[in-house]
Amino acid sequence: MDILTETKHLQNRLDDLRNSQMSIGLVPTMGYLHDGHLSLIRKARSENDAVVTTIFVNPLQFAETEDLDTYPTDIERDTFLASEAGTDLLFTPTNEEMFCDDVLTTVSVQEISTVLEGASRPTHFSGVATIVAKLFNIVGVCSAYFGEKDWQQIQVIKRMAQDLSYRVEIKGCPIIREKDGLAMSSRNVYLTKEQRKQASHIPESLLKAHEKIKDGERQSSVIKGIISERLDSSSAIDIDYVELVNGENLSITDQIDEETRVLVAVRIGAARLIDNMNALEGLNL
Ligand code: PAF
Repeated sequence: MDILTETKHLQNRLDDLRNSQMSIGLVPTMGYLHDGHLSLIRKARSENDAVVTTIFVNPLQFAETEDLDTYPTDIERDTFLASEAGTDLLFTPTNEEMFCDDVLTTVSVQEISTVLEGASRPTHFSGVATIVAKLFNIVGVCSAYFGEKDWQQIQVIKRMAQDLSYRVEIKGCPIIREKDGLAMSSRNVYLTKEQRKQASHIPESLLKAHEKIKDGERQSSVIKGIISERLDSSSAIDIDYVELVNGENLSITDQIDEETRVLVAVRIGAARLIDNMNALEGLNL
């Protein structure tokens, strides 16, 4: 695996690969890699001739009140893990490399960026879309892999790629979970031991909801009630939202069908955690 920090070096390498007719898989990350990220790299490895993994803690997607300064990093460990999982080129640009000056140009995807996560984090998805657009421009024609834990992020990126005609195929990959069902996230390290125990209420609430859906319940309000009740039974958990929406356009769904996605966001201590499932399929445990 080669480590590159400069855009033009990465582009030169990618041009060479493409001239040799090699397909490219892109895995954009903010580092502090866990099994979720590694599953994306492995998938990219299995479907492409060359794999580029990027590590960049993108300041544009953090609000001033958020955890940019404390976001966990461990570049040595990441380098080892990215290589083990099958990365060929690891791109780790500095802030200066990515934004030589003030950022005057941004990308925002209307409507689907303003609901759910966007309601609590109004500038978040414009930050994500801007950096992902930049990475797509740097890397060029490729398949790009994203984890379904950030379900809304994938919809925003898919829409951006479609609207701006990127020649990038967006691939959503299943959520990877801890033994107790908690979705893997770099932010799980913020949890104390006790908070970590309480966090298992999140997958449990979704499992309970899915049981009810399997029994034939189709009213979103009933399912929301079941999830909220389970989450509220932990005093450590503050619910941000529990919603059932159309998985693609994210509009609120009253009656569950095969397109329905159940999404939750909670705060536990310093961590803001999200999870989701297809309403009819449930969790992949
Ligand atoms: O999902 C993430 O880690 C980030 O939002 C992404 C896609 C790498 C953009 O910074």
